[in-house]
Order: sequence, then structure tokens, then C-alpha cells
Amino acid sequence: MKLTSSFASLIVCAVTLASAHDAHLEARRTSSLLISPPGLPKLPTASAATAAAATVGLNLTDIQGDIVTGMTKNRETFLFFGIADAPSFKSKLRSGVLPLITTAMQMTKNSTQPTTLVNVAFSHTGLGALNVSDTLGDGAFTGGQLADAGNLGDPGTSHWVSQFVGTNIHGVFLLASDTDANVASTVTAVTTALGDSITQIYTLQAAARPGAEQGHEHFGFLDGISNPAIQGFDDSPLPGQASVPPGEIIVGETGDPFISQRPPWAIGGSFLAFRQLEQLVPEFNKFLTDNPIRAPGFTDQQGSDLLGARMVGRWKSGAPVFLSPLADDPALGADPTRNNNFTYALNGSSTSSSTDQSRCPFSAHIRKTRPRADLGLPENTGRHILRGGIPYGPEVSDSEAASNTTSTERGLAFVSYQSSIGNGFQFLQRFWADNTGFVEQNTGFDPIIGANKGANRTVGGLDPTDPSRTITLITDFVVSRGGEYFFSPSLSALANTFTV
Ligand code: HEM
Ligand SMILES: *[C@@H]1O[C@H](CO)[C@@H](O)[C@H](O)[C@H]1NC(C)=O
Ligand SMILES: *[C@@H]1O[C@H](CO)[C@@H](O)[C@H](O)[C@H]1NC(C)=O
Ligand SMILES: *[C@@H]1O[C@H](CO)[C@@H](O)[C@H](O)[C@H]1NC(C)=O
Ligand SMILES: *[C@@H]1O[C@H](CO)[C@@H](O)[C@H](O)[C@H]1NC(C)=O
Ligand SMILES: *[C@@H]1O[C@H](CO)[C@@H](O)[C@H](O)[C@H]1NC(C)=O
Ligand SMILES: *[C@@H]1O[C@H](CO)[C@@H](O)[C@H](O)[C@H]1NC(C)=O
Ligand SMILES: *[C@@H]1O[C@H](CO)[C@@H](O)[C@H](O)[C@H]1NC(C)=O
Repeated sequence: MKLTSSFASLIVCAVTLASAHDAHLEARRTSSLLISPPGLPKLPTASAATAAAATVGLNLTDIQGDIVTGMTKNRETFLFFGIADAPSFKSKLRSGVLPLITTAMQMTKNSTQPTTLVNVAFSHTGLGALNVSDTLGDGAFTGGQLADAGNLGDPGTSHWVSQFVGTNIHGVFLLASDTDANVASTVTAVTTALGDSITQIYTLQAAARPGAEQGHEHFGFLDGISNPAIQGFDDSPLPGQASVPPGEIIVGETGDPFISQRPPWAIGGSFLAFRQLEQLVPEFNKFLTDNPIRAPGFTDQQGSDLLGARMVGRWKSGAPVFLSPLADDPALGADPTRNNNFTYALNGSSTSSSTDQSRCPFSAHIRKTRPRADLGLPENTGRHILRGGIPYGPEVSDSEAASNTTSTERGLAFVSYQSSIGNGFQFLQRFWADNTGFVEQNTGFDPIIGANKGANRTVGGLDPTDPSRTITLITDFVVSRGGEYFFSPSLSALANTFTV
């Protein structure tokens, strides 16, 4: 092939410009920065995502990447900051950090993923500090999480991380990669770029658990299996996976119930609910050991395992108790085409199975937070969240296990994305998990996350040999350490609204 010299130099010039502008996008990766435990949905390929996006007009290069990646982070640091000097922050964010912000599209391919994912989100007071005064149409966000503690069932804020008690956290950087060294060097790059324009208020380092526990939360259960597929990003949902209109997760898109209240720059953003949820693992394990289900032919160990599985609604492998009611089935747990393929409707019935909890308690964590056919089929509740959290803290030590007592904090750095906190995280916690009359009368609390302001919690349906038996939990195995509500803006909003 022959090129005229001017055309050739034009190409060279374009390539040079692209590589200078996209220096951070250079293909430094041959492997993903994410983990991919068997049993979890995979991200769509870049071409599948592009085709899906075209059908609903979603701009995947304008949406921050963490919103779509689910519970597949390997190493992640949450850096909560205050804005000390807003004009300086704006200019430094623009020049030093915006080029690093990772998009949804980039995450779909190893070669376009950055070394470290960098995302940023702002609290309501952070918007104020930046003179972004439009109302976003989300009352929970505007009020902040501290004001919501009572609604969420927290027993006051005495257990909260002190930095969350207040409203002076203006934003959070989320930095995720496959190695601690990558995360650390990117934390340094971001904080150096911003210098004195921010104050670092609080940092939480989190990591997937090691070895065979990778992808499992600290109680031992595989997590992140059942996240919805966002139409316009992933149009090939797995069997049983909820397929939700983009506006259920992304603000201003089709299906956002508050679309008319959004300023134009909010389109492509998402509300991020962050919660630091401590897990009392030795205490949880002792409770299971002390209270095995006494089913015919069951050993104590089997009875304890069954109790734990019915509290979650899944076995540790991820196999749902609805499909495998009496024993774990690791092959089922590891198979993403089967492990979410159920509705709680008996025998494939298209009607609700609301009166039956023989296979899965109404109180089970996954039935409380996604009741599927209990609210009728086809499932269309408008109350789905995209979970993106990651465990934090060390493995249980021998001495903690022996003493049945936590001595070093561990838990879940809970992250959920939704277009409405009031329909999403807050609703699931307040009106489902904490509501003893949901899914049915006498359901009791969600035994994993249900909160009763620190008082005893009654839980129904855990014992399949006596569904009317109520078990009283005197320990909260999940302790709220607080958090904050944020808005994760589109890249165009960051460029045109937040940094000018
Ligand atoms: C430390 C606290 C928590 C633990 C240990 C935990 C654990 C789990 C586990 C093991 C699963 C099953 C895996 C899966 O289906 O993806 C699950 C699912 C789920 N969790 Fe949590 N979770 C916690 C906090 C929360 C909170 C605070 C919420 C929301 C208020 C929540 C909402 C959900 C939802 C919506 C599902 C999926 C249910 C489904 O689609 O079937 N979780 N969680
Ligand atoms: C991306 O990286 C993961 C490992 O992180 C690997 O399993 C997968 O095959 C890679 N995908 C492609 C298309 O190279
Ligand atoms: C999509 O978003 C990117 C990043 O903000 C922007 O450059 C591009 O113009 C947008 N594309 C469309 C079609 O709006
Ligand atoms: C915010 O607005 C006030 C009043 O208009 C102005 O004095 C201040 O400089 C602005 N701050 C920023 C960061 O734009
Ligand atoms: C999903 O479940 C239905 C019955 O509820 C069954 O017909 C179908 O084959 C299952 N799909 C897979 C992939 O197992
Ligand atoms: C479901 O099927 C089982 C076994 O085939 C049967 O015993 C049970 O009565 C059926 N339940 C309903 C609600 O139809
Ligand atoms: C820990 O709990 C187990 C189960 O109840 C019990 O057997 C053991 O004695 C407890 N250990 C201590 C140190 O209390
Ligand atoms: C909590 O439940 C335990 C066990 O049932 C009971 O002994 C205790 O009195 C209860 N505490 C309160 C405050 O109700």
C-alpha cells in the first residue's frame, strides 16, 4: 500500500495525539484487574456492550466503571476526603485526576482496563462545596446518611466510624486493582495531584478473601451472584438474573422514576450508598454451632450448616437453598447458568408461592432483599440495586476462633448503585430487611442485615422441621459502622459541571 507523505504524517500525528491524550489508557494489561469467581456473572464483551448500548442510547464511555463491575474487585481502597480549597480542587481534579477516571466501556476488555480503576463520587455537602447547587431529586442523598441512621435501624451512631458522624465528607475516591502495589501507587498519584486542595478524612482498604474463599464474604458465603443485568449494558441476562431498565441504576435513563426531576448534567450518574458493615464472624459461627437444625438423620454439623444456609438463602458455595434445600451442591453454586434460576414459585408455577417457606425462609437474606415471585411475576419491583462491595479486614485468627470473639475488625465495604436511594438501598434495608411483616406476617427480621436499633431480633421460618418456630437473635452479627451517600457523576458532568 502507498500513502502520500502528508496522509502518512497525519496518521502518525493522530496516533501520537491519541497516545498522549490516552496515556493512562495504554494497553498495559493482558489480564483483568477484576476477579472472576466461578458462579458470578461475567461482564459483557466490549462488542456485546456496544451493541446493547446502541439500543437504548446509553453512553458507556460517559458512565463511571465501578457502577457496572459488581462484586468482583480484588483490591480496593476507599479514600474519603473533604474539599479544602474548592477552586484549587477543581483545577487539580481536572488536570490531574479526570484523565484517570475509568469508564464502564473500558472495563469490558482487559486491554482497555487501566492499571488501577479510579472512580470518584460526591456527597451532598461535597456538591455544595463545589457550588453545584441543582437539586438531584433524591431526599436520602440530600439528607446524608447520618440523618438516615434511625431509618436504617442503626442503634444510634455509637458504633459508627467517627469520621462518618457528621457531614464533612465531601467525596470518595474508589481505587481498585489486582495488587496492593498498584492501588498504593495510584492512591499516591491521586493524592499528590490534589495536594492541599483536599483533606484525607478516612481511608478503608479492602480486599477479596484469599485462596478458595475468593469471592466469598467473611461469613463464608459466595457473594455477588445475583446482581441485575442493566439493559443497554448487558442484554444477555443469565437464567433468573433480573434484567432491569437502565434507569433503575443510572440516573436520567429510561426507567428512572424521577427522570423529570434531574438536571441534564446528572444523566449517566448513579447514587452510591456506602456502608462499612462489620461482621462478627466467630460470634456468628458460635451461634450456628449452638443452634443446629435438628432434622432427621442430620449431624450437628449438618444442622448448623443448614441454619446458616437458611439465614442467607444460599449455601456457602452459592447454591440456593430453594433449589438444594438440604445440603450444599458446589457444582450448582459454581454454575452461573443455574445458580440464579429460580423464583420461589413452587414447581415452576407462574403464581406466587408466598405461603411456602419449606425450601427457603421468607426471612432469608436473599428473599428479603429480592422477593422475586413473592411480589408476583413477571418480577418488576423497581427495587433492584447493583452491588459493588468488597470484604475488608483480615481472616479470622486462631485465637479469635477459639475464643468465639472478634478482636480485629472485619466486614463488608458495602457499595450499592441505584438511581434512587429511597427505592434502592434504603428501601431494602428499612422496609424489607428490618420489617418483621415482610415478606409475610411473622417473617421477622433478615437475620443477616436486619436491624432493630440494637434490640433483640426475632426471625421466623429458619427451622424447616417447624416453620412456626421463631428464633431470637440477641447478637447483631452485622454491625453498622456507618457510611455516607454519594453521587457518582458521568465523565461529562465531571468535566463540564464539577470542575469549571
Ligand atoms: C455484611 C453484610 C452483608 C452480607 C454478609 C451479605 C451477604 C450476601 C450474600 C452471601 C448474598 C448471596 C449472593 C448473591 O445472591 O449475590 C447476598 C445477596 C444480596 N444482598 Fe447481601 N449481604 C450484606 C449486606 C447487604 C445489604 C446492606 C443489602 C441491601 C440493603 C444487601 C442486599 C443484597 C441483595 C439485593 C442480594 C441479592 C438477592 C438476590 O438477588 O437474590 N446485602 N448478600
Ligand atoms: C482477561 O484476563 C483474565 C484474567 O484476569 C483471563 O482469564 C481472561 O482470559 C482474559 N480475557 C481475554 C479476552 O484475554
Ligand atoms: C459519550 O461520552 C463521552 C465522554 O463524556 C463524550 O466524549 C462523547 O461525546 C459522548 N458521546 C455521545 C454520543 O454523546
Ligand atoms: C461559589 O460561589 C460563590 C458565590 O458565587 C463564589 O464566591 C465562590 O468563589 C464559588 N466557589 C467555587 C469553587 O466556584
Ligand atoms: C431454568 O429453570 C427452568 C425451570 O424452572 C428450566 O426449564 C430451565 O432448563 C433452567 N435453565 C437452566 C439453564 O438450567
Ligand atoms: C410441587 O410438586 C411436589 C412434588 O412433585 C408436590 O408434592 C407439591 O404438592 C407441589 N406443590 C405445589 C404447590 O403444586
Ligand atoms: C466457643 O463456642 C463453642 C461452641 O459453643 C464452645 O464449645 C466453646 O467452649 C467456646 N469457647 C470458649 C472459649 O468459650
Ligand atoms: C433477648 O432475648 C434473650 C433470649 O431470648 C432474653 O433472655 C433477653 O431478655 C432479651 N432481651 C431483651 C432486651 O428483650
